Amino acid sequence: MRTALVTGISGQDGSHLAELLLGRGYRVVGTTRDAARELPAGLGERVELVAVDMLDGRRMAEVLSRHRPDEVYNLAACTSGEGQFDDAVEIGRVNGLAVSVLLEAIRGVDPRIRFCQASSSEMFGDASQSPQSEETPFHPRSFYGAAKLYAHWMVRAFRRRHGLFAASAILFNHEGPRRGPGFVTRKVTSQVARIAAGLATELRLGNLDARRDWGYAGDHVRGMWLMLQQDSADDFVLATGETHSVRELCERAFGHVGLDYRDHVREDAAAFRPPDPVQLVGNPAKARARLGWSTEVRFGELVDMMVDADLRLLRQGAGGA
Ligand SMILES: NC(=O)c1ccc[n+]([C@@H]2O[C@H](COP(=O)([O-])OP(=O)(O)OC[C@H]3O[C@@H](n4cnc5c(N)ncnc54)[C@H](OP(=O)(O)O)[C@@H]3O)[C@@H](O)[C@H]2O)c1
Repeated sequence: MRTALVTGISGQDGSHLAELLLGRGYRVVGTTRDAARELPAGLGERVELVAVDMLDGRRMAEVLSRHRPDEVYNLAACTSGEGQFDDAVEIGRVNGLAVSVLLEAIRGVDPRIRFCQASSSEMFGDASQSPQSEETPFHPRSFYGAAKLYAHWMVRAFRRRHGLFAASAILFNHEGPRRGPGFVTRKVTSQVARIAAGLATELRLGNLDARRDWGYAGDHVRGMWLMLQQDSADDFVLATGETHSVRELCERAFGHVGLDYRDHVREDAAAFRPPDPVQLVGNPAKARARLGWSTEVRFGELVDMMVDADLRLLRQGAGGA
């Protein structure tokens, strides 16, 4: 039986990845900051949860020595836009430096451990070309993107210098029913559920013409797993390769419950973000060719799935707040 260690297992991707790994017969160990954390989808019963400070190299080495993983997936990060984007030091520590701490621990305990880093399309930032591939130069704009880029380069450096099987997944946006409430997809689908239930009437959003490359989390974590099943470590863009606007997102989500988004959505000037100078959209050709990876859940299906999940949550009394 293979063992996988997943940092940040309580998050959206962590839970999808844990389900995938358990389904493939892995023993799964997950890290969290809080051992009392409840995992979604009944995972608490099926994975071993350990509390770890991601910056504590000694503790990380202890966890690796005790659980002896074959594969490590580093998903823990400051990700939500709720104020955390502004904390440059914390973002630098967790999204950047912690990756070096983890790679050093792997090197010390067992350099055969395979490692996958959850990197981000935000590393491209003010990209000079579109779509973006593994060859596109990085120009991060945010603290988040800059810290992720440091980690990305450290993954490559550990691979070159120490021969570790260390791979970096350059992830474009991926969503699903477990997406945090601060992200625009979930903001839309949860409010659509409330409006459909008669609990609200309006949804305020920023620029409706902003476009994103939105995929499904279940597909993207499968890509990360595939990356660690190869003969050698490499970096891959995981993306759908197509974009949709916030307006299309609203149209689909409201349409799914028989409503017209134009009756409910208000564009809020205060929430406008400056437009991206170059369209951020990934080119997944390398992942397709080398991993045989492609996305299975299309945009419309993804939005319907999220609305249905939010309607269910509301009925269960957990999503109405
Ligand atoms: N989802 C996307 O579209 C996307 C796109 C590009 C890259 N990524 C990357 O993919 C990974 C997974 O994303 P996700 O969507 O699953 O994120 P998520 O739902 O926000 O989960 C991230 C997890 O990281 C842990 N975490 C948060 N702040 C932390 C801190 N200060 N120190 C240590 N751990 C912390 C949390 O676990 P505990 O609270 O249990 O500690 C949280 O559950 C992240 O590294 C993210 O940056 C995601």
